[in-house]
Amino acid sequence: MSEARPSDRDPPPRGIGDIVVSSRPYEEYLAMFGLGEAEVVAGPVLDCPGGASAFARGVRARGGRAVAVDPVYGTPPRDLVARVRAGLEHGLRYLDQNRESYVWSHFDSPEDLTRRRLAGLEEFAAGYTGADEHHVRAELPRLPFPDRSFRLALSAYLLFSYPDHLDEAAHLAGLRELLRVARDEVRIYPLIDTAYQRYEALDGLLEALAAEGVTSEVRRTQYAFQRGADEVLVLRPGGRPGDVGGLPR
Ligand SMILES: C[S@@+](CC[C@H](N)C(=O)[O-])C[C@H]1O[C@@H](n2cnc3c(N)ncnc32)[C@H](O)[C@@H]1O
Repeated sequence: MSEARPSDRDPPPRGIGDIVVSSRPYEEYLAMFGLGEAEVVAGPVLDCPGGASAFARGVRARGGRAVAVDPVYGTPPRDLVARVRAGLEHGLRYLDQNRESYVWSHFDSPEDLTRRRLAGLEEFAAGYTGADEHHVRAELPRLPFPDRSFRLALSAYLLFSYPDHLDEAAHLAGLRELLRVARDEVRIYPLIDTAYQRYEALDGLLEALAAEGVTSEVRRTQYAFQRGADEVLVLRPGGRPGDVGGLPR
């Protein structure tokens, strides 16, 4: 089948366009999600999407248990690294076109951002040889884990970030699936899309989840980068006490 070509009638891509594979380092995850080190080693953690982030590896290096999930796992290491580097370059061009939409407090400058994201990529690549027990190839809304496998499930820069790629039903199904595999908490960051707009169906989604017993809280973050990305969503599954499942170290 031939690939669809953009025509004059297609709307221009919103925000950054296609979903990029990014490589946020461990420390950036703690800052974005408002988490301390003790919280991420207190029990198994899911990072979905993991992309080329160094977070899960960082948790394991500190004695915790963490699994990353992403449909890109299985891509040969060299190809994945090239894709992440191309995505970083695309992101830097996008940033340059939208300079007023960024706050330079966590990062000093575009050079500092580049250095830290490349360090994240290097750390990820040092532990990635393809899909394995720490890099699970799967995608929302279907995760290959039993209920309550993780103490904490984290999701950065997929849900709410790409509304042109995931509709409202996909968001609800994705959130339900993260809640299914989490025992204590699900955290999502950011709540704005790549065009810097707050995800407009958020309140409706939270109401639907509340009817299922899910508690939600929108917390301010100390971390700032994109203007308006100063909130993290904390969800707690309703009334399901119990132990977390056995996961690889
Ligand atoms: C912008 S990256 C974020 C990666 C990582 N969380 C970070 O912040 O560095 C988005 C990732 O979402 C992955 N992705 C796309 N669709 C997905 C889905 N349905 N379920 C899980 N991951 C998905 C992509 O492969 C990509 O690696």
